Amino acid sequence: MIALSLAEIAAVVGGQTYDIPDPSVQVTGPVVRDSREVEPGSLFVAFAGERVDGHDYASAVVEAGAAAVLASRPVGVPAIVVDDVQAALGALARHVVERLGATLVALTGSVGKTSSKDLLAQVLRSKAPTVFTPGSLNNEIGLPLTALSATDETRFLVLEMGARGIGHIRYLTGLTPPKIGLVLNVGTAHIGEFGGREQIAVAKGELVESLPADGTAVLNADDPLVRAMASRTKARVLLFGESADADVRAENVRLTEIGQPAFTLHTPSGCSDVTLRLYGEHHVSNALAAAAVAHELGMSADEIARALSEAGTLSRWRMEVTERPDGVTVVNDAYNANPESMRAALRALAAMAKGRRTWAVLGHMAELGDEGLAEHDAVGRLAVRLNVSKLVAVGGREASWLQLGAYNEGSWGEESVHVSDAQAAIDLLRSELRPGDVVLVKASRSVGLERVATALLDDSASSEGQVAGR
Ligand SMILES: Nc1ncnc2c1ncn2[C@@H]1O[C@H](COP(=O)(O)OP(=O)(O)O)[C@@H](O)[C@H]1O
Ligand SMILES: [Mg+2]
Repeated sequence: MIALSLAEIAAVVGGQTYDIPDPSVQVTGPVVRDSREVEPGSLFVAFAGERVDGHDYASAVVEAGAAAVLASRPVGVPAIVVDDVQAALGALARHVVERLGATLVALTGSVGKTSSKDLLAQVLRSKAPTVFTPGSLNNEIGLPLTALSATDETRFLVLEMGARGIGHIRYLTGLTPPKIGLVLNVGTAHIGEFGGREQIAVAKGELVESLPADGTAVLNADDPLVRAMASRTKARVLLFGESADADVRAENVRLTEIGQPAFTLHTPSGCSDVTLRLYGEHHVSNALAAAAVAHELGMSADEIARALSEAGTLSRWRMEVTERPDGVTVVNDAYNANPESMRAALRALAAMAKGRRTWAVLGHMAELGDEGLAEHDAVGRLAVRLNVSKLVAVGGREASWLQLGAYNEGSWGEESVHVSDAQAAIDLLRSELRPGDVVLVKASRSVGLERVATALLDDSASSEGQVAGR
């Protein structure tokens, strides 16, 4: 964080100081909520959660070097006490970002936020110091904590914004007002909580409504609900996608022989060839989104293409490709799933096959509502059409739809099986995997299929496995 005195912080958050002998002491270290992350000069933010109360750690963090605690009651060590710790954290973030020289970029969407954010961060940091959301810390606490990790050197601050309802993005943009707002897509994630796709569009569009007239709304030209957000912003609009009228677009999109997407990137300043080190064609859209923002921030097509072609996976379980010493390749995409990314992952698997046996260990795709049966059926059928050697459908009713889809498409005998849970899948794979096989593991987050990938990788005890795509 930029250095601020305890007195200044107390004034910004409207708090009262307790047990602070010297209010001119400066907070220099990170602002953290986890006592294990405290460093000398830190500000520790004490949240009273259901299971853990941060206030209980006050003495320990000060002993570890924290300058003070932001708390909702006096704790016997230096503290700035406020009524509402979350509001105070937000106010502090707002104050700090206003003083930073960095350009703020915020992004949201139903899927691909973390993947796109990680790509964008890698492109921008090839140009200038960049601070970005670690992993998926995109809520009302993770966002201000990330913003507060920026320093005077930071040129670009990239923040992922998540929403589970109307008003959430508006709240986040109030804490860290972006200059550039990127909206990826309006899908079906959390559709139950929102009450329909139109409502999701209303919520995601709050990002572009927050932009200033001299800002830029970067919108997905291929998604009608996102494109329509152009009417909800004062900012200039820049479109990305595969649509012919997109300002930043991909042409000649293909998968390389190992399943990595390649395309020609077109931006208003030129064109350049990209081969991603990531797997699955859904990353083309994520890469174009990142490219559009990078273009807006002054990078040339060549600079963007080079950085995209070098970018790896920064967050776990998203098409993470690991080679076991015995030649079995494990593709762990167990972080989440939806119909589009299922199709992309299966196509990547097919591209990686090249004569090897392929396994698709797939589970339930959540939140599809009435479309659930048709979508699971379609994925099962696609696995057969792509010649996947073995489909292992894991879980309950939806898994049986997957397997039935494959069966109806002409898979017979042992080409597709339905097992009840992750352990059954692990047992089956342990007894049947052969050196050289390629295994894709993918389902919605709640299924927890990463257990299968982890078990398969643990089996190669010598663990000399090398992670591709990094
Ligand atoms: N552009 C995209 N379109 C469809 N699915 C995607 C896209 N990008 C990523 N995914 C899929 O969604 C899952 C979650 O990706 P992630 O980048 O973490 O999204 P988010 O942060 O929005 O939850 C990944 O495992 C991947 O399969
Ligand atoms: Mg995320």
